Amino acid sequence: MIDTHSHIYDEAYKEDFDEMISRARETGVERLVMPGIDSSCHDDMVACADALPGFAYPAIGLHPTEIGENWREELQFVYDHFDDRPWVAIGEIGMDLYWSREYQKEQMEVFCAQLSLAAEKDLPVIIHAREATEEIFECLRRVAKPLRGSFHAFTGSYETYRRIKAAGDFYVGIGGVVTFKNAHIAQAVERIPLEDILLETDAPYLTPVPYRGKRNESAYVRYVAEKIAAVKGVAFEVVNRVTTENAADLFRFFKK
Ligand code: NI
Repeated sequence: MIDTHSHIYDEAYKEDFDEMISRARETGVERLVMPGIDSSCHDDMVACADALPGFAYPAIGLHPTEIGENWREELQFVYDHFDDRPWVAIGEIGMDLYWSREYQKEQMEVFCAQLSLAAEKDLPVIIHAREATEEIFECLRRVAKPLRGSFHAFTGSYETYRRIKAAGDFYVGIGGVVTFKNAHIAQAVERIPLEDILLETDAPYLTPVPYRGKRNESAYVRYVAEKIAAVKGVAFEVVNRVTTENAADLFRFFKK
């Protein structure tokens, strides 16, 4: 399995980092993608990538919830560090109007700038969208360049998935929410082809059942895969194989 969204550099793992990584590997996680957030977590993320070559792959980007007064400097940080190393993606980027609408205009500007950067550099994007679906589509239209990537933590409808597919070469990232009781996303997942799905945890957040409410970690991606298998009525191995191929295609893991 490939966990396409895991913040293993988070301080939540300070005490048991090595054990957490071992559990992920033992469970069958072959690789994981670490999305960037802002300058404050950048060094910790890069340190994890250096400690786990061929396993933990870093992305770079400015997260919408971190857009505030100093957004210009934070965006500049992305440009300044762009040539440091081969990033697997630009992310996580997007819009979050649940968090705050104060910087809505700036969120849009920063998102559009990073979408353009991704198109220019031929990198996938990892999109964070919360209460901002129309604004996200507006930015994709505005940038109007061929894009590929992941709609991370997707919990939308099948109809929204169809609009995402029409907007570019996108996958939807399915995480722990699919395991929650009465989660609407399970009904959409039933109809979304496996070929368009990526597994993710968003660890340390959005912990799947049976650990809901506790700290999440990459090893729990298997509960997400098991739930998708159950919802779609296919074998766990099929979910594992197809979603691993999807992630490898998107992040070009086998083409470097
Ligand atoms: Ni995240």
